[in-house]
Amino acid sequence: MRVLVVGSGGREHALVWKLARSARVGQMLVAPGNAGTAAIAENVAVPASDVAGLLRLAVERKIDFVVVGPEVPLSLGLVDALEEAGIAAFGPTRGAARLEASKSFAHQIMADCGVPCAASRVFEDVAAARAYLETLEPPYVVKADGLAAGKGAIIAGTLGEAFSAVDDMLVKRVFGESGDRVVIEQYLSGKEVSLLAFTDGVHVAPMVPSCDYKRAYDGDQGPNTGGMGCYSPPGFFDADLVRQATDTVMLPVVRAMAASGCTYKGVLYAGLMVDGDSIRVLEFNARFGDPETQVILPRLDSDLLEVLLSCHDGALEPSSLHWKVGCSVGVVVASGGYPGHYEKGRVIGGLHDVDPAVAVFHAGTRLDDAGRVVTDGGRVLNVVATGLTMADARERAYDGVARLHFDGMMYRTDIALREVL
Ligand code: AMP
Ligand code: GLY
Repeated sequence: MRVLVVGSGGREHALVWKLARSARVGQMLVAPGNAGTAAIAENVAVPASDVAGLLRLAVERKIDFVVVGPEVPLSLGLVDALEEAGIAAFGPTRGAARLEASKSFAHQIMADCGVPCAASRVFEDVAAARAYLETLEPPYVVKADGLAAGKGAIIAGTLGEAFSAVDDMLVKRVFGESGDRVVIEQYLSGKEVSLLAFTDGVHVAPMVPSCDYKRAYDGDQGPNTGGMGCYSPPGFFDADLVRQATDTVMLPVVRAMAASGCTYKGVLYAGLMVDGDSIRVLEFNARFGDPETQVILPRLDSDLLEVLLSCHDGALEPSSLHWKVGCSVGVVVASGGYPGHYEKGRVIGGLHDVDPAVAVFHAGTRLDDAGRVVTDGGRVLNVVATGLTMADARERAYDGVARLHFDGMMYRTDIALREVL
C-alpha cells in the first residue's frame, strides 16, 4: 500500500517508524516531515495545513491510505476531502474533530452522555464572564473554546489574572476566533494521565496509558510547552482504571457521537484527572498525542497499519491489539530558550553514538545543504527507550540524551523520576 503521513513532529516520525514495520506498507510519503522521516520515507514539502495541496498530492501519487497527525488539518476537513475523492484516511471528519476543536462542543457531548468532567459555563460576553468568575473560588480555569496550539488553557491564581485571561480572549483576541467564546471550568486536582484509544466509531481499544510533562523545567517549573517528555505506564493508573475510563468515558462518547449522526473514527485522546478511583475528563484531542505517541508505539506489539485500517473500515477488534510488557520513557531535547525565542540551524552531533535499541525520533530537525542534521524548531528530538522496569528504560533514555549535543541543547532531567523514587 502507498501510505501518506501528514505532519512534521516527533509524533509523525514515530508513526512512520512503526508503519515501516507493517507488512503491507510499500511506499511511504510524509508531508512535510523532518530529517528523521527523510531517512525512512519520502518527504514532500506540502504543509500539514494545506488541505488542497495534500489532496492533490494524494491523488497525484496514487496514495491508498492517509494517516493524519496534527489537529489543524483534521479541523479543516482533510479527512472529509480525501474520502470525498475516494481516498481512505485515518482520523475523524471535521464534524467529529470538534471534540478537540471546540471545548464547548466536547462539554455538551459529555453532558449528554453523563461523562464525568469539570463543571463548566460558556461565555461570549466579557461582563457575564467576569460576573460568573466572581462567584467562584481560586484557582480559576479559563479556556479558549477553539484550537490554540496547546496555549488556550489558563489556570489563574487570582481573580485579576482570570479577568485578564478573559480580556485576552474576548477583547484582544490573542487566539483569533478560537477565543471568541471562553469556557470557564471548575478547577480539578489530582494526577493527570493521557489515555488514547483507537476507535472505528463503535468499538474502542485503549492504548497503554502515559503521562506527559508540560512545563519547561525540572520540578514542573517554568512555562507550558508542547511537552518535554513522557512515560508509560503510570504506576497510579492500573488496568482496572484503564477499563473504568474506557467504560465511563471513551465508549459513552463514541456512542454519543454516533447517535448524534457524527460518527467518530480515529484516535480519541482523553486528558484525564485522576484522584483515587475518580476519573474526570480535562480535555479531548482528536488525534495521537505528542509526545505520548513516541512512548506508546514502541510498546505496541501489533501491526499498526492493520489497526488503523480496521478503524477506518469499521472492523476494529479490541482483543486483537497486543502490547509489550515493560515500560518506556521519552525525553524531549529542545532548543535553548524554548518555548520562548530560540535559534535554529544548529548542527546536531552524536546521533550515531546512541544505542541503536534506543529510538531517536526527530521533531524540529531538517537536513541542511551539506546534508547535516540541524535544529529547526523548539522541540528537536525525542529520545525513547523501553525496558522491563521504569528505572531501566529511564537510564537507557538518559544515556541516549547524554550522547547528543548541539549549541543551547536543553532537556528536563526528571522525566519518569517520580516512578522510580
Ligand atoms: P487543556 O488544554 O484543556 O488540556 O489544559 C491544559 C492543562 O491545563 C492540563 O493539562 C491541566 O494541567 C490544566 N487544566 C486544564 N483544565 C483543568 C481543570 N479543569 N482543572 C485543573 N487543571 C486543568
Ligand atoms: N501531549 C499533549 C497533546 O498532544 O496535545
